[in-house]
Amino acid sequence: MKKILILNGPNLNLLGTREPAQYGSTTLSDVEAMCKAEGARIGYEVECFQSNWEGALLDKIHEYGRLFKSGDALGCVFNPGAFTHTSIALHDAIKGVDGLPVIECHISNVHAREEFRHHSWVSPAASGIVIGFGVDGYLIALGGLVRKFGNR
Ligand code: DQA
Repeated sequence: MKKILILNGPNLNLLGTREPAQYGSTTLSDVEAMCKAEGARIGYEVECFQSNWEGALLDKIHEYGRLFKSGDALGCVFNPGAFTHTSIALHDAIKGVDGLPVIECHISNVHAREEFRHHSWVSPAASGIVIGFGVDGYLIALGGLVRKFGNR
């Protein structure tokens, strides 16, 4: 069974209690369980990983770049949190693994928020973007990844 990575960046471990007006009250483990169940339903093994450390996110993208090359992974749904707006290293990692489809996902509509959230370093390297659908965005991104890159 091919793998799909649900990757979450800084502060997303606080989902459920962090600014609920912005991000809702669903926890990260709820989101992860939802994605795993959907993956199982459509025939993919979903792995979930969250880190507050940029380097750990880079290492995970590199790992999935290798799994993609060996045919063992389909791609990745990635909410880079605030690193979206700061990290050229994440941009380079996605470009650097050359081929791994990454769907960028944001819970909130970043374009309706502060100006510093309007720019993403990840978007130019992403294969698709889902913004502003709340935590349902993860499932929308997962479905989009499979529709665009899966063989079903
Ligand atoms: C976010 C939006 C980012 O601007 C913010 O820093 C986050 C969450 C979102 O999912 O809406 O941490 O990526």
